[in-house]
Amino acid sequence: MRHDANRFSCAVLTMSDKGSRGEREDESGAMLQEMLRQEGYQLRGYKMVPDQIEAIAKVLVQWVDQDQIDLILTTGGTGVSPTDVTPEAMRQVIEKEIPGMAEAMRAASLLKTPHAVLSRSMAGIRGRSLIINLPGSKKAARENIEVLLAALPHALDKIQGGTSDCANLRVAKE
Ligand code: MTE
Repeated sequence: MRHDANRFSCAVLTMSDKGSRGEREDESGAMLQEMLRQEGYQLRGYKMVPDQIEAIAKVLVQWVDQDQIDLILTTGGTGVSPTDVTPEAMRQVIEKEIPGMAEAMRAASLLKTPHAVLSRSMAGIRGRSLIINLPGSKKAARENIEVLLAALPHALDKIQGGTSDCANLRVAKE
């Protein structure tokens, strides 16, 4: 359980053509939901959509604008195959990008696999919500989100206008 995480709601969106046709089990989505619960976040949504820009953007906009979910993790569709369009949907949805989050995930992932450079994942803000893209495999999604977990409660606090002093914060790395 991470200090302060229980103040925030969260949701997981899985991008998968096969999964959305019921042809593949969503192991990454299930793992991320469990991880968020263990961290203390309140899980308020889960969906699986095909790799289509409009379908992805529609869910993200609804979760932010109507449901006001604080933290949204997406998994899949960040790569370079013709069907991968998660970053293209993100560009339609987010108002501010947080490049450091994706940079940190790629840098840490590069220590594990040279294929880390193939993820075009982004992180960004819409309204008072934070949206983070993760790769599609369970292993890759876990390795990527683990890089950011320690920074998320403070990030969410700041995104929502919190005035806590960054310099005085002590954050455990793990
Ligand atoms: N990052 C980590 N940490 N571990 C991985 O195994 N796989 C890579 C990359 N990032 C990987 C990773 C691979 S093989 C791909 S193709 C890209 O993520 C994009 O994945 P996606 O298209 O499923 O989103």
